[in-house]
Amino acid sequence: MKQLKNKAGEIIPFIGLGTFPFQGKVMADMVKSAVKVGYRLFDTADDYHGESGIGLARQELEKEGIVKREDLFIQTKISDNNATANEPLKAVYFNENSKFMQRHSVEEVVREKVSISLREMGTDYIDSLLIHYPFPGYYVDVWKTMIKLKAEGFVRYIGVSNFHEKHIETLIKETGVSPEINECYASPIATKQSLVDYCNQHDCLFVTYSPLMDITAGRIAAEKFQPLMVKYGKSLAQIILRWNIDRGCLPLPKTKNPSRLAENFNVFDFSLTTEEIDMISSLNCDYQYLVESKICPGI
Ligand SMILES: NC(=O)c1ccc[n+]([C@@H]2O[C@H](COP(=O)([O-])OP(=O)(O)OC[C@H]3O[C@@H](n4cnc5c(N)ncnc54)[C@H](OP(=O)(O)O)[C@@H]3O)[C@@H](O)[C@H]2O)c1
Repeated sequence: MKQLKNKAGEIIPFIGLGTFPFQGKVMADMVKSAVKVGYRLFDTADDYHGESGIGLARQELEKEGIVKREDLFIQTKISDNNATANEPLKAVYFNENSKFMQRHSVEEVVREKVSISLREMGTDYIDSLLIHYPFPGYYVDVWKTMIKLKAEGFVRYIGVSNFHEKHIETLIKETGVSPEINECYASPIATKQSLVDYCNQHDCLFVTYSPLMDITAGRIAAEKFQPLMVKYGKSLAQIILRWNIDRGCLPLPKTKNPSRLAENFNVFDFSLTTEEIDMISSLNCDYQYLVESKICPGI
């Protein structure tokens, strides 16, 4: 199982905090509470507008002597701006109709975005930088700049998000460099097993976003999990998070509820058997809860 290390060289816990839509002091307080529980990985993106809250938490945690920057693992993303599901062509940057891109190179845009993220978070490096979506016609050039940023020391891990096998194949063919992380939605009703297997074969860590969303939406048949919840004395959320971990996928649960921060982290004192993992995976129906990309729907 691929593990992530912080800059201090330590393997970090195999779970991260999803931080959308926290901002400002709310974000800072959530991050600080999470660090005290044991979380070290924080997932954000330039278009979540929460990076400055992570920066605030980071500075306060250091001042209070709780953790140093190098103990944390901050993951952010290169997104487009202003694109919405209804108006995808309002994308400012990674869009062939963009007037902006007639004047600027992809490399300039990516470098500017990274310098803003660094400034917002008050840091001189990002632990992990992902391309938020496989922007058609642009993602290879974004990737080439990310490779340079890693070589220059601004970024420690480079990866992708919402990428399918074909997109990763293209990156490898064009640059020879495989992503170290692929952050995608997965759930017992959307196991994405072939993509998970593909990532494992390429030493690319599958990071799961929205791992608990299907509980909130009532799409998980809770009664199927009851025997496991009783056997291990764990909640439905904890069983699903552990299922992720046992299949080598690092989950990113988000909660605004401090007591759930601890509940979601408390998944390292048990593990599921192969039969139990398979039983949960058998609930798969290839569900897709959101369009994977605002810019390139239906990829
Ligand atoms: N790369 C991408 O394209 C992408 C897309 C979407 C999300 N993400 C990332 O993934 C993170 C998580 O995704 P998400 O917020 O969509 O979904 P999620 O974390 O799977 O689900 C959040 C929902 O689960 C609830 N919840 C949390 N802990 C729970 C527990 N122990 N028991 C029952 N319910 C629980 C939360 O409620 P409370 O808050 O009330 O506890 C909230 O309603 C985001 O914050 C973001 O960092 C990335």
